Amino acid sequence: MSPAESSTPEQSAPYSGPSAGETGPAGLNPKRVRTVHLQRFKDEGRRFSMLTAYDAMMAEVLDDAGVEVLLIGDSAANVMQGRASTLSITVEEMIIYASSVVNGARRALVVADLPFGSYEASPEQAVASGVRLMKEAGVHAVKVEADATLVPHVRAMVSAGIPVMAHIGFTPQSEHALGGYRVQGRGEAKQRLMETAEALVEAGAFSLLVEMVPAEVMAELDAAVPVPTVGIGAGASATGQVLVWQDMLGLNGGRLPRFVKQYADLRGIITEAVGRFRDDVASGAFPAEEHTF
Ligand code: KIV
Repeated sequence: MSPAESSTPEQSAPYSGPSAGETGPAGLNPKRVRTVHLQRFKDEGRRFSMLTAYDAMMAEVLDDAGVEVLLIGDSAANVMQGRASTLSITVEEMIIYASSVVNGARRALVVADLPFGSYEASPEQAVASGVRLMKEAGVHAVKVEADATLVPHVRAMVSAGIPVMAHIGFTPQSEHALGGYRVQGRGEAKQRLMETAEALVEAGAFSLLVEMVPAEVMAELDAAVPVPTVGIGAGASATGQVLVWQDMLGLNGGRLPRFVKQYADLRGIITEAVGRFRDDVASGAFPAEEHTF
C-alpha cells in the first residue's frame, strides 16, 4: 500500500487557513496544521501566525482563535518564572510546559524550544534533547537557536526524524556573547546571516525564525530561501510572525520591545476585575445566595 493510500482523510486533508471554532469531537483534530502546510503558506504567498503558549488553557484559546503555530518558547523562563534571561530553563521544565500545550492544542502545529545547554555540545546531545521533547511532551517540532556551528546538529536532528525550526538573527540564549539585545545582520554581518540561513536550510530545517534584523535584510533572506520564514522584529516580509502572548495581549506590565504591537490590555482587565472581587468580599456581597449551597 502506498503512503497516499494508507493515509486517513484527516492526515491528507489540506489545511486551508484559519477557521476559528472548527473543532471535532473532543480529542479529535479535524485538520492538524503540519510543516507541509506552512510550506504551502510560503509557496502561495500567504501569511501565518505563531504565538507562544505555556499552558493547556491558553493553548486552547489561541488554537480556537486560529493561530497556526504555538511555540513553547524558552521565554517561559521570563514570563512564567520571572527570570531576567532564558538561560536557566531546563529540558525537564520545558517538557512540563510543552506537554500542557500539547494537551490544549487541537489544530495548531506545536513547536518547543531546545533550552540553553541542551543541544550545543554535540549533534548527539541535540538529537537526545529533541527526542525527549517529542517523546515526553508530544511536540511536533523543535526550535533551536543556531549559527553556522549548529549546522551538523540540525542535520542530525532532521535525520533522526525531528522537524527543526532554526532561530537566527538575534538569539536570546547568546545575549551575553552578542553584547545584549541588538539588531543583527547589519552591514558586513548580513552576508554571514544569509550564508548561515542557507546552510541551515540545506541541513534540513523546515523553517527559519529570524529575530531583530532590518526589514530589508529579512526581505532578501526570505526571497533567498525556499522554506517558510517567521519574523519577530524583522519587518513584514516573513511568511509568518511570532510574538510572546503576554506582550501582545498586554499582560506584561514591563517595558515592551519596539517590535511588539499590543492588541489588548489584559493586565488592566484583570486588575479591575480582581479589585471588584476584593470589594465584594470585603463588603460581603460575594458569595451571594446563588453561589451558596
Ligand atoms: O522563546 C521565545 O518565546 C522565542 C520568541 C521567538 C518568541 O523564541
